[in-house]
Amino acid sequence: MTQKKIITVFGATGAQGGGVVRAILRDTNSEFAVRAVTRDPGTDKAKALAAMGAEVVAGDVDDPESLKRVLNGAYGAYFVTFFWDHFSPEKEMAEVKHMADAAREAGLKHVIWSTLEDVRTYVPLEDDSMPTLHGKYKVPHFDGKGESDQYFDGIPTTFMLASYYWENLIYFGMGPKKDADGNLSITFPMGNKKMAGIAAEDIGKCAYGIFKKGQSEIGKRIGIAGDQLSGQEMAEALSKVLGRKVSYNEISPDVYRSFGFPGADDLGNMFQFYRDFDTVCNSTRDVKYSKELNPALQSFDMWLAENAQRLPIE
Ligand SMILES: NC(=O)c1ccc[n+]([C@@H]2O[C@H](COP(=O)([O-])OP(=O)(O)OC[C@H]3O[C@@H](n4cnc5c(N)ncnc54)[C@H](OP(=O)(O)O)[C@@H]3O)[C@@H](O)[C@H]2O)c1
Repeated sequence: MTQKKIITVFGATGAQGGGVVRAILRDTNSEFAVRAVTRDPGTDKAKALAAMGAEVVAGDVDDPESLKRVLNGAYGAYFVTFFWDHFSPEKEMAEVKHMADAAREAGLKHVIWSTLEDVRTYVPLEDDSMPTLHGKYKVPHFDGKGESDQYFDGIPTTFMLASYYWENLIYFGMGPKKDADGNLSITFPMGNKKMAGIAAEDIGKCAYGIFKKGQSEIGKRIGIAGDQLSGQEMAEALSKVLGRKVSYNEISPDVYRSFGFPGADDLGNMFQFYRDFDTVCNSTRDVKYSKELNPALQSFDMWLAENAQRLPIE
């Protein structure tokens, strides 16, 4: 029997990496084996990955020596960073550099880097239509990732761009909210533009599709999405599944930025980018190609059929 090729997966106990781990391990005929990276192999989540058949190893993207260890002997790696744990693009960039340097040293044959657009290439810093944040960013959690793409020069890399997770409706306070009269609405500053979205679990399945295709995907920028929907269309789908009217509450990015929760300004700018550059963002995040990578790709309706009961209706 030939030896399986090892894919080292970062964020393995989280949404993106966890999906990659499960996609590979559930395919009993896979040519790949999984090495799942966690900061603590003793947690229940890490033990669950080991029980599924992953080799679980300790690693920390802030510790370059640990990255050498977890990439040693691997064929490929899935790299993702964790912006919302610290809100710092500089930290994120330093971590990506650590990962890329270790990938180069390990001689990996295929890296998937979970990146996003550097919005400053579309909206220059001097453009006042979108506020500049922390002196040098437009959308900090996008820009740091996009700027980090350069670290992969010379490394066989697929640049994968995820979409808005629909799980944000459950966990990130973006789901339907009740007004004083009990009427439900979802609030986005998207005008009537369509935004690409995806079931978080499908990100890993698409990444697995990229690893399986292999060499043909190297050097490509591949956006993935399960659907592209306007706020109105999302509200209609929610109304149908919940059996009660959900309206789309359209606001301006300025109002969104003023909400005051941590990262509201970053997200307000992100939605403004998705709204004003909808053609660019949606053509990058091609549903048809995502489905080719992952035939089980969920549409918003499919995701809602499974998850609507988990929406906290506040
Ligand atoms: N939410 C969205 O709509 C969306 C859309 C596109 C892109 N993104 C991007 O997705 C990224 C987050 O990915 P995710 O949603 O998969 O994250 P997640 O579910 O929060 O999981 C992150 C995992 O990373 C691990 N981790 C955290 N710090 C680490 C470190 N220093 N070294 C090694 N591992 C570490 C943690 O595992 P352990 O505790 O086990 O170590 C954790 O389980 C963010 O950068 C965000 O910008 C989000």
